[in-house]
Amino acid sequence: MKASADHHVLVTGGAGFIGSHTVDVLMARGCRVLVVDDLSTGYMANLARWRDHPRLTVLKADITDDLAGHLKHATASMGPLDRIIHFAAQTAVPLSVDDPANDIRVNLGGTAQVLEYARRNGIAKIVFASSSAVYDDDAPVPVSEASLARPASPYGISKLSGEFYLDYYSRYFGLKFTALRFMNVYGPRQDPKSHYSGVISIFMDRAVTGAPITIFDDGEQTRDFVFVTDVAQAVVGACLDNRGDGEIINIGTGLEVSVNLIARTILELAQSNSPITYAPARVGDIRRSVTTMDKATRSLGFVPQVKLREGLDQTLAWVRAEAVSVSSSV
Ligand code: UD1
Repeated sequence: MKASADHHVLVTGGAGFIGSHTVDVLMARGCRVLVVDDLSTGYMANLARWRDHPRLTVLKADITDDLAGHLKHATASMGPLDRIIHFAAQTAVPLSVDDPANDIRVNLGGTAQVLEYARRNGIAKIVFASSSAVYDDDAPVPVSEASLARPASPYGISKLSGEFYLDYYSRYFGLKFTALRFMNVYGPRQDPKSHYSGVISIFMDRAVTGAPITIFDDGEQTRDFVFVTDVAQAVVGACLDNRGDGEIINIGTGLEVSVNLIARTILELAQSNSPITYAPARVGDIRRSVTTMDKATRSLGFVPQVKLREGLDQTLAWVRAEAVSVSSSV
């Protein structure tokens, strides 16, 4: 087996939220890393700690637009790639409901380009960022990988289709893969200013600025919130340590938490008086979401390290620091 330092890993979407934390782990393990990101929702600031590092190359490019051409140029100087972690995607469930064609173009079209590149260039393994949005409310709670995947949104459909493509490339071309179905990932670098960001970063931004918090539906819908550094460890384990080969694995904590509880806890931690208002449920939202942990534990040795309170504290500290740096730069 190669040492980590011998690996050259492509991370699509590597300037994004989960992508950049994954780059942190790969860099710490001594890999060479090539990030391809169109910076539509990612930020160079997320990779600032590695600026000018000789093992990191960042390519600003859209994966749906001649990925192979872009990579040919980059690998000519940096050497061939041997692994791929594929995050680049449009990540908002509501945006996929508003514009399914764009979701297909980016999420499925982009995945097709990445897989073709992998097949033609002898990539040893690909890790795919799938989603728990492949399950809907008919799936039992907690949801296991054996549960029926029947998405309630175009986003879930494109992620599930990506998994079928992986299976096809694996069976017919021998491409090794792991698909990780993330539950609700949260933590520093999840853009607090976007309406389409995760609920925790939106609520924190509102709590810190005193703006009202809007809870869709009655707030008793639940999610399984998993901290981003735990997710990054799972991804890198699957990528470099040959764990979970050929498997589809849920990544969460096994703990089911309501949106109301999240809102209350954030207001308390931030010592905020932001008012809470309720609005109708979003189309495509599922009611309950929490995973079993058996497969992640067995196949990846995955045990989340960061408890919810601790993760919320770290995220809040980051959101506050961001608010300061934004206000001092205007
Ligand atoms: C999230 C991810 C998606 C991932 C999926 C896996 C984001 C933006 N989306 O979708 O990429 O694949 O988990 O399960 O991270 N809510 C409010 N008020 C708000 C915002 C949200 O009440 O201002 C509620 C929503 O209605 C929903 C819950 O919070 O019930 C979670 O919403 P969100 O953070 O957008 O995540 P998901 O839609 O679950």
